[in-house]
Amino acid sequence: AEKQGFRHFMLKEIHEQPRVISDTLTGRVRMEEADVDLDGLQLPVDTIARITILACGTSWHAGLAGKYMIEQLARIPVEVDLASEFRYRDPILGPGDLVVAVSQSGETLDTMEAIREAKKKGAQVLAISNVVESSIPRLADHAFYTHAGPEIGVASTKAFTTQLVAMTLFAIYLGRRTGTLARERARELLAELAQLPGKMRDVVESGAQLQVLARRYGHASGFLFLGRGAQYPIALEGALKLKEISYIHAEGYAAGEMKHGPIALIDEHLPVVVLAPRGPHYEKVVSNLAEVRARQGKVLAVATKGDADIGGHADDVILVPDSALELQPILTVLPLQLLSYYVADFKGTDIDQPRNLAKSVTVE
Ligand code: M6R
Repeated sequence: AEKQGFRHFMLKEIHEQPRVISDTLTGRVRMEEADVDLDGLQLPVDTIARITILACGTSWHAGLAGKYMIEQLARIPVEVDLASEFRYRDPILGPGDLVVAVSQSGETLDTMEAIREAKKKGAQVLAISNVVESSIPRLADHAFYTHAGPEIGVASTKAFTTQLVAMTLFAIYLGRRTGTLARERARELLAELAQLPGKMRDVVESGAQLQVLARRYGHASGFLFLGRGAQYPIALEGALKLKEISYIHAEGYAAGEMKHGPIALIDEHLPVVVLAPRGPHYEKVVSNLAEVRARQGKVLAVATKGDADIGGHADDVILVPDSALELQPILTVLPLQLLSYYVADFKGTDIDQPRNLAKSVTVE
């Protein structure tokens, strides 16, 4: 009954995304002022010289996507570090630093210890979590929440897309206060955010196509995921999802790095998922795609509806609705979640409880 007719929690949670994105936006958008209210968050934005985002796993991927958004909209330099690395490298931090800790559960030990280290060095800490009153928001100086609801599947899906929305709202919050985000642009972005749930619904309902592709490519022993700009963290996330639940080796790469190594992997047995939505990187990504095909690699392109050319460069095309550049990752990750789900289902793995993994990692 809890799965509400879905075969797995993961599939149910994929389908819940349009609703939980609405929930994460509810009460936060101030269209009149072209601003956002993040649970009353009051940061001394003019004192922030640098932001360091700390997280693990999927939350770290959301942090990487956040870097693109914050630097673009608020022009504040952002570093993103794995919490488990940060805490052991004697990081250089001071009062001008804002640390943003991202954690779905709010209980990940590495992220907690990284916060303790940052606070010891005098940085302010903001937590973005999905669990109210969990340990990480309690340790931090400030907090606001994603509203994904309980996530049961070990492979994170709805928590990730709500983190991407939280990052977008935070970038708008900062940009409006640094003065780098004009009122009109902020309004446009907020209006686009309001349209996201409907667009996401279109994509999550396209499961049948992903099921066919999962059967076509699910025998492969490895996958490559490529993306540029804010699609690079989505390539990493696509690879992580596939590894976690289907046990197929997968690598996510920045598309421009392909020629520096992974191109040696390409042959007719390697499916390459290329994130190629409309935008400033499109031409470059299409040329990466041609390099894969010239080496007999099989290309699955994720592109924007209305792209009439991409079909000529790919073996299979998955289309997502058009949106503002900043919001595209929230749409392009959805087919990757579905692809992993259906590959794992096809292989018959334990999708909600994959081997060796825990939902919340509270040990070192
Ligand atoms: O609860 P957190 O967001 O702190 O968890 C971080 C990672 O353990 C988590 O994202 C993990 O990578 C997931 N299994 C990804 O699907």
